[in-house]
Amino acid sequence: MPLLNTASETQPEIAAWRRSLHSRPELLFDVHETAKFVAEKLTAFGCDEVVTGIGRTGIVGLIRGRHGEGPAIGLRADMDALPITEATGLPYASQVPGRMHACGHDGHTAMLLGAARHLCETRNFKGSVAVIFQPAEEGGGGGREMVEDGMMERFAIRQVFGLHNEPGVPVGRFSIRAGSFMAAYDEITITVTGRGGHAAMPHQTIDPIFIGAQIISALQGIVARNTDPVDALVVSITKFHAGDAMNVIPPSAELAGTVRTLSKDVREAAETRIRATVEGVAKALGGAASLDYVRKYPVTVNHEAETQIAIAAARDVMGEGSIETEAKPIMGAEDFAFMLEARPGAMIFIGNGDTAWCHNPEYDFNDEAIPVGVSYWVRLAEMLLKP
Ligand code: NI
Repeated sequence: MPLLNTASETQPEIAAWRRSLHSRPELLFDVHETAKFVAEKLTAFGCDEVVTGIGRTGIVGLIRGRHGEGPAIGLRADMDALPITEATGLPYASQVPGRMHACGHDGHTAMLLGAARHLCETRNFKGSVAVIFQPAEEGGGGGREMVEDGMMERFAIRQVFGLHNEPGVPVGRFSIRAGSFMAAYDEITITVTGRGGHAAMPHQTIDPIFIGAQIISALQGIVARNTDPVDALVVSITKFHAGDAMNVIPPSAELAGTVRTLSKDVREAAETRIRATVEGVAKALGGAASLDYVRKYPVTVNHEAETQIAIAAARDVMGEGSIETEAKPIMGAEDFAFMLEARPGAMIFIGNGDTAWCHNPEYDFNDEAIPVGVSYWVRLAEMLLKP
């Protein structure tokens, strides 16, 4: 069965919702207008339950099938935008300076709304579909908050599925893999303490900038010398702040960055080695350093059985050759990982065509992908909840 006829017929209407959301981007948990838009639509479609305020501003719409009682599945979209000033010049570009839907969450929300409407109208399944709209995907942990708020238990969700667009991949193509698909994301802050003084008399100081530079170099040694070459580890120092004057060695320096891993073991080992390296290098050079290591998002792990169902649904919509089933893992992170820790499920990528990459001020979600995403959601639900 190819694209749903209704998904193609309603594409212009769903694209209009998407563009309306695009022009009014909201950040993190402050997605009040977006959430209101979503809740009103779900109510109008005739969802059996529309519950707002889950994980602060998250929403779940519950749709019961017409073939009797059964387990529920969760289909999840994200609603938040990014603190970026849009540079697309599009007629429906962001009306809010410094905020932009630069990751396509406007498209994800619109497609899941389109699927919800179709599922409300047809209800050709046994059990229930919970359509999940989460806030704060971009670093705020909105997915974790919805899980901690008891969403899975409240709606008796047995399996969960996520979707994200992928620029550079043709519209109509999917990619997925079983196992680790996206990285764990951690944040590190390093405070180096030395002794300030005259820049012309470095021997009377303990230079925290010199120590910081050695720490940066040594951290790459953890990737190159301590980690199995076939495992993945990224350590990126992205901030180095110290000093105010040309002729003064400052007393301290602050470095910060991110650590990405694809397995629990590598993540554990990385934290241990980073701490030892930071403290040891600073000590060897006469100073001191402390590490603040914050675990943000876990590894996004696709479960085997659910990945196979997602593959079958994608093939059913777009054909045998439409999906890359052994996609390379991505070192970006996904808040959906928290939902996959709570319930088995799978995250899939759908092609966004030849557009700028996500988080770029020139990026735009591709409305041509709407019928593909809507059809995928509907087919996935009908396959999982076959009467
Ligand atoms: Ni995103």
